[in-house]
Amino acid sequence: MHIVKTVAELRAAVKAWRSTGQRVALVPTMGNLHAGHLALVQEAQKQADRVVVSIFVNPTQFGVGEDFASYPRTEQEDRQKLNAAGADLLFQPTITDVYAPDAKTIVSVSGLSTQYCGASRPGHFDGVATVVCKLFNMVQPDSALFGLKDFQQLTVIRTMVRDLNIPVDIIGVETVRESSGLAMSSRNGYLSAEEKTVAAKLYQALCGARDAILAGQLPYQEIERRALLFLQQAGFQPDYFSVCRRCDLQKAGEDDIELVLLAAAKLGKTRLIDNVCFSR
Ligand code: PAF
Repeated sequence: MHIVKTVAELRAAVKAWRSTGQRVALVPTMGNLHAGHLALVQEAQKQADRVVVSIFVNPTQFGVGEDFASYPRTEQEDRQKLNAAGADLLFQPTITDVYAPDAKTIVSVSGLSTQYCGASRPGHFDGVATVVCKLFNMVQPDSALFGLKDFQQLTVIRTMVRDLNIPVDIIGVETVRESSGLAMSSRNGYLSAEEKTVAAKLYQALCGARDAILAGQLPYQEIERRALLFLQQAGFQPDYFSVCRRCDLQKAGEDDIELVLLAAAKLGKTRLIDNVCFSR
């Protein structure tokens, strides 16, 4: 695997591939790679001839008091995993490679970015949209792969790509779960063994709510209320639990068919998010 730090080196490698007609896929990450990231690499290999993985802990998507400084940085292990997975190139820029000190441009997907996780993490999705837009401009991939676990992030990115006519196919990849149902996440490393057992109840709450909707007995508001109560009783501090339309994440009405249930909750100091998608 080729490892580069600068945009110039990255562009030279991608240009050489392109000159021989090869297709390029990008897997953007913040490192601390787990099975969920490796599933993105695997899917990328099906989509393209060459796979670029970026590792960049993006400061602009962390709020004040969030875990930017302590976010797990596991460079050596990540490189080994990517080598074993057969990634072609690792792009690992520094903050100054990515952001000019006097950068003035922010990409903001209005509306979507201030709901759900965006309401509790002001500016988070502007940071995500800006860095992903920049990575697309640096790599110029044919496709880019993101986990369905971060469903709101995926929707923000799809909307940005549509609105800005960015010629990149966005591919969402199924969430990889532990046997308990807990969605794989770099932040799971913050959980104690005891918390990890409780954390699996977030997915249980989502599956229970999905089954209740499919059984068709309760209004959505009541389903949300019960799920929030279930999470509270399990020891979480729930942030939101919402029955949404899958296409634009607006509150679902009884006529909507394609749904996603979005949930976020804190367990101790760790903020967890998860979702389930289904058709009614
Ligand atoms: O999902 C992530 O790891 C990050 O939000 C992303 C997409 C790499 C942007 O920094």
